[in-house]
Formats: sequence, C-alpha cells, structure tokens
Amino acid sequence: MMIQRKIYIICIEDNPTDLGLMIRQIGTSGLDFSYKQIQTKEELIQELKASEPDLILSDFSLPSFDGMEALEIVRKYLPNIPFLFVSGWLGEEAAIEALKRGATDYISKNKISKLNFSIDRALKESEERALLDEAEKENETLKSQLIQAQKLEAVSLLATGVSHEINNPLTIIINYAQLILGQSKDDMILKYASNILDEGERISKITKDLLRLARQEKQVFSKVRFHDVIQRTVSLCEQLFKKDTIFIKLEIIDSLPDIYCVPQQIQQVVLNLLNNARDALNQKYPKFDSNKVILIKAGRLKRESKEWIQMCIEDRGIGIPKEEAKKIFSPFFTTKKVDKGTGLGLSVSTGIIKDHGGELYYESKENEYTRFFINLPVLPERRLEENVSSEENFAQPE
Ligand SMILES: Nc1ncnc2c1ncn2[C@@H]1O[C@H](COP(=O)(O)OP(=O)(O)OP(=O)(O)O)[C@@H](O)[C@H]1O
Ligand SMILES: [Mg+2]
Repeated sequence: MMIQRKIYIICIEDNPTDLGLMIRQIGTSGLDFSYKQIQTKEELIQELKASEPDLILSDFSLPSFDGMEALEIVRKYLPNIPFLFVSGWLGEEAAIEALKRGATDYISKNKISKLNFSIDRALKESEERALLDEAEKENETLKSQLIQAQKLEAVSLLATGVSHEINNPLTIIINYAQLILGQSKDDMILKYASNILDEGERISKITKDLLRLARQEKQVFSKVRFHDVIQRTVSLCEQLFKKDTIFIKLEIIDSLPDIYCVPQQIQQVVLNLLNNARDALNQKYPKFDSNKVILIKAGRLKRESKEWIQMCIEDRGIGIPKEEAKKIFSPFFTTKKVDKGTGLGLSVSTGIIKDHGGELYYESKENEYTRFFINLPVLPERRLEENVSSEENFAQPE
C-alpha cells in the first residue's frame, strides 16, 4: 500500500466475526490504521459529527438499519469520503444501485482478499480529489486576484487618459476665471469667478492625484534635506490651518540626515497626512479647542543595521475605528462628504512611500488620537559621508 499517513476507519458492522475478518485482512496490507465499530444509526451520526474518518466500510444489512440508509447519512455529512460496501449477499442489481447512490465500491465477503486493493484505490482517489479541490480553490483565488489587478490596471489606464483630457480644458477654464478676477469690478461676478477658480483647482488636484495613482508622473530623485521638505509643506498649509484654529507643532532633531527622494512627492504625502489630521480635528472640534494641534516629529531610527528617517504626524482628532483599518488605504475609500474627500490621499501616499522603499502605517485610538508614521531609508551613500551621532527612536510598526 502507498498511503503513508494513519487512516481512521468507521466499520458499520454488527457481526464480530465478519468485523474480525475485515480487520485481519486490512492488517495484512501494512496500512497504518485505527477503526471504530458502529452498529446503529445514532452511533453513526454521532461519530460522523465527532471525528474525521478517512474511510467507511459498511455491511449491507444490519439489525437496526440498512446499508443504503448508512450511505445516505454518510453522504450527507461527508460527500467525498470513500464508502465501501463489504457484504455477503449483495446481488448485482443492488450493487449497481449502491454505486449509483454514491458508494465507492462493493466487495463480497467471500472475496475479502480484494478488500485491500479496493481500499488502496479508494483512498488514493480520495487524496487525489482532495488535492485537485485544493488546486482548484487556489486557482479560483488566483483568478479573482488577477481580475482585481486587471481592474485596477484598467482603472489607472482610464484615469491617465481622462486626466490628460481634462487637464487641458481645465487650464483654459482656470485662466479665464483668473482673467475675469483681474478685470471685473462687479462683486457678484468676482465671487462667481472665484468659485470657478476654486472648483477648477479642486478638479486639477483630483486629476493630479489620479495621475500619480496611475504612476504616470515623471520621477526625479534627488538628495534633499528632509527638514526642508517638512518645513516647505508646513508653510504651505500653516496659514490655512490657522483659520480653523489648528496649530502645527514641530519637533525635529537637528542631525536629521539627507535622503534621496522625489521631494514633491514626499511633500505631497506630508500634505495628505496633514490634511487628514486637520479634517479629523475639525470633525471632533468644529470650533476652537486647545487640543487642535498637529504634532510633527522627525528623528532617526535604526533597524536591522539599516538607517531610517522616521516622521510621525499626530492629531488628537476623531481617530480611526478598528473596523476601518483595512479599508482606509484603498483607493476611493473615504468617510468624508463628497465635496470633502475623494479617498485617494492615503492610497496615493502609500504608492509614493513604497516607491521610495519606505513604510507608511498608523496607530490610532478611536475618538482619541491618530499617529501616522513615515519611515524612509537613508541610503548607504549617505551613511558613508556622515557620522551617525545622536539617535532618536519613535514607536515601531505595530
Ligand atoms: N488622521 C486621521 N484621523 C481620522 N481618520 C483618518 C485620518 N487619516 C485618514 N483617516 C480616514 O481614512 C480615510 C481615507 O483617507 P484618505 O486620505 O485616503 O482619503 P480622504 O481624506 O477621505 O480623501 P482625500 O485625501 O482624497 O481628499 C478618511 O476618509 C478617514 O476616514
Ligand atoms: Mg485625505
């Protein structure tokens, strides 16, 4: 016999002599097995529920129920398990009927020497079927992953096309709105033009995000002072945030090393995170509150003898519920109103940070705080040039 693992057999048989005969016969095969004798329907159901048998051997006629009934019960619980009738008097017709109803094989008790061959074949077939099932399941998973990937690819292709188409007329619209703003004296017209400009710029931002998501933008890596990247981004939004009584606090260590990056992209990520922090604070405190502070920390991190820059953006806003943890990085997932969020910020940011060989993750407690972390590798060239002096570690990824 080829089956190597230990096999558990349920024997539906009332006659001890016949049972002994079967077990002795199987014993000669070298199969590693254990078995349990079952005589009633109730016992059978209980055993099927409690154990995971590999094989059922059943007599055809039993005092309390018959083999066909046993077969029916077994098929209900374990549709694929090998079920062999081992019986004394089963005629040809009954044997055919049994096979039709799902029995795997039929062995006559007076030809018991055939039992081992039949068991071996049934077990092998069953293992093959299990392997096939598994392969099929895996195939299905792969297929659905592929479909998902293709969908995303199709979406990015579409996004790229549409963004280019939109950008040209949009620039013209924005230019005209600016012309009107520069020339009109009518307050109403100025207000309308200013609205056109605002909304136009919003569309422009969305198309830029989409383009970036589709990774079609040119990427130019250069060596920059990380401090400057943060500072520049903060100056961009500091004034705007003050209007919402939100203050940005910086805690950046002096000896922050330079990094190789596409500075505009890193700025974009920081801006996305700052905007999210602002929204979270405004949602929690619509008016002034002393908690409306965004804390930006940046320091060094050493892990597995690699140097990183770690930046953390912390807000004490609404926080992120645990059940949303998986979703927030997906494109177009947003909990904000239609005119507030497109749900692209984090997915675009993740793409950018990945392109930089870095990590983006967060920790949060609902209704208390959110901390987004950006880890960016400090490249080896840099390490050779500079002496690593001080060290400041923030929290590690969860
Ligand atoms: N600091 C935060 N505090 C609370 N929730 C957050 C925070 N950052 C992100 N989220 C949650 O993650 C979601 C997705 O964020 P993401 O930046 O991708 O999209 P968005 O801010 O909704 O829209 P967009 O950035 O495109 O304008 C948000 O809608 C919000 O529910
Ligand atoms: Mg956002």
